[in-house]
Amino acid sequence: MSKTTSKASKTIESHLIENRVFKPAADFSKKARIGSLAEYRKLHAESVKSPDKFWGREAKELHWLRKWTKVLDWKLPNAKWFVGGKLNASVNCLDRHLEGPRANKAAIIWEGEPGEKRVITYRQLHREVCKFANILKRNGVKKGDRVLVYMPLVPEAAIAMLACARIGAVHSVVFGGFSAESIKDRLADSGARVIVTADGGYRRGQIVSLKQNVDHALKGNDAVKRVIVFRRTNLDIHIEPGRDVWWHRELEYVSADCPAEHLDSEHPLFILYTSGSTGKPKGILHSTGGYLVGTYASTKYVFDLKEEDVYWCTADIGWITGHSYLVYGPLANGATCLMYEGAPNWPEPDRFWKLIADYGVTIFYTAPTAIRAFMKWGDHYLQKHDLSSLRLLGTVGEPINPEAWMWFHKNVGHERCPIVDTWWQTETGAHMITPLPGATPCKPGTATLPFFGIDAAIVDDQGNEVPHGEGGKLVIRKPWPSMLRGIWGDKTRYRKQYWSEVKGAYFTGDGARRDKEGNFWIVGRIDDVLNVAGHRLGTAEVESSLVSHPSVAEAAVVGRPDEIKGQGVVAFVTLRSGHRPGEKLKEQIRKHVAEAIGPIAKPDEIRFAEMLPKTRSGKIMRRLLKQIAGGQSLTGDTSTLEDLSVLTKLSKGEE
Ligand code: PRX
Repeated sequence: MSKTTSKASKTIESHLIENRVFKPAADFSKKARIGSLAEYRKLHAESVKSPDKFWGREAKELHWLRKWTKVLDWKLPNAKWFVGGKLNASVNCLDRHLEGPRANKAAIIWEGEPGEKRVITYRQLHREVCKFANILKRNGVKKGDRVLVYMPLVPEAAIAMLACARIGAVHSVVFGGFSAESIKDRLADSGARVIVTADGGYRRGQIVSLKQNVDHALKGNDAVKRVIVFRRTNLDIHIEPGRDVWWHRELEYVSADCPAEHLDSEHPLFILYTSGSTGKPKGILHSTGGYLVGTYASTKYVFDLKEEDVYWCTADIGWITGHSYLVYGPLANGATCLMYEGAPNWPEPDRFWKLIADYGVTIFYTAPTAIRAFMKWGDHYLQKHDLSSLRLLGTVGEPINPEAWMWFHKNVGHERCPIVDTWWQTETGAHMITPLPGATPCKPGTATLPFFGIDAAIVDDQGNEVPHGEGGKLVIRKPWPSMLRGIWGDKTRYRKQYWSEVKGAYFTGDGARRDKEGNFWIVGRIDDVLNVAGHRLGTAEVESSLVSHPSVAEAAVVGRPDEIKGQGVVAFVTLRSGHRPGEKLKEQIRKHVAEAIGPIAKPDEIRFAEMLPKTRSGKIMRRLLKQIAGGQSLTGDTSTLEDLSVLTKLSKGEE
């Protein structure tokens, strides 16, 4: 086994050539749905050549209230999947399982951070969803209305989502770590008039005051008519008469009978906000039929799901991973899902391993940033626990560095479990490039090959495919069922952002290269988007929160390599006249960003500067700032720089 060597390509540099290959074990392949590379290739070729046939077959496994007349109607950039079909996502995740032996199977096994345990069967989950759907109706929610969900990771978060789906309301989940300001923006953009939240949630031994954040967000807002509050922590909270109601009180007024709406396949299922390269988060819109078929099929094949699996996806429900692989994908497959509310290191850094041992988790899907944190905390935390139930591991969110992959493989998978490194995005809805565990030979650090139906390619600036080994833009050349249907309220931005960069293709915003086996190696974002702990942060978004601080005149944000988080946030800041740089001000500004966006966006470092390096036309030269932030020596062309002395000062760290 040779280690890594280095290589540079013309368009994007990539420094890692990894030669270690891990083939699926024979006994795993034998039992897997797709048991060989040849089988994968055959089915992949069919799925790309005849998507109607492949996706039609997958869709038939779900429950349709009316069958579609056409699988795909495609007019770039607008796709309609399963045209004319009617279905309901909650029926597919719940009712569909009640006829047979899954009725009393555990759908959700939940553990709260303080240690409470709950097991909810499919029958019980169905009942709770129906009741909450009736609560929504009672509180004025109608088909097509947007409902903002701001919850801790409790089963009620999934119940709220599925209840929206049941009545055709569009949920927009806001991650519980986001701030009041973020709620405000998302409320304004989505036009939601009802919020579902909780008094609080537990995180690292503390209570996160969710309801209080909602109260702040609603100051001066009279568009929101109702806030439904789930009692999780018993925290003393404000209840606004006429606006706020308790979830448990509302339950007294509703029945458990709620027939599901018959929804058009293209009916919107949810909006989820994500960062782009401008300051304004984009409301990514997903539809019902295509999204459900995509998440259903990928969960089934990529996790090679079996009836007896105990499946655990550690993502929060506020991210796309929580939507697709904690709720819709696994529940549509009738899986038993573990859900854990809190931090991985509470009360001790072995909490995840303890959960795996306690519940006999068989499939464990997590993020590289978490793996790097586990590595740092130490192997002894794993050795105390029996991890022998595990049979498959997965990662998502950012490129996994080969050391982290190897550590995961050895210490968690005990060299026995395949690892599926899944590349996808909020916009793609479901896995796009990923190994199939019984079929694909893996190399640490590559997401390997495209999933069924996915026609991925790497192209240069002119849109021509680059030769293997060279870097370029990662694009998808054909529509796929779970693709976004648009950006909420912004048709032009949708076309411009995704379908204009490369003619005829969807542009992912990522750079990648392929090796000689055809594996895709993602090298990171091409646009001004950071990936911090597996989550996207637009530099412009952080910059606009920085300049909203009264002492900040101008700001530029760049990423720098970070051992745990993948990328750390470095902010270069110039101050308004009359304000003096200092440690106290740095702290205030960091806190200000955390309040404006959420702790995830808090700059790791603030560097005050007299001026930012700009071109003569006034564009900030981020490339140079990145080199400074990463402690590298300055290279490349600086001839367009307006004032060279700025750079010297910045590199010396002078304020
Ligand atoms: O840059 C890629 C990176 O995360 C981006 C998508 O971020 P988001 O929409 O927040 O969704 C994250 C969860 C799906 C991608 O454009 N990314 C995600 N997964 C991987 C990855 N980069 C490399 N390898 C992955 N497995």
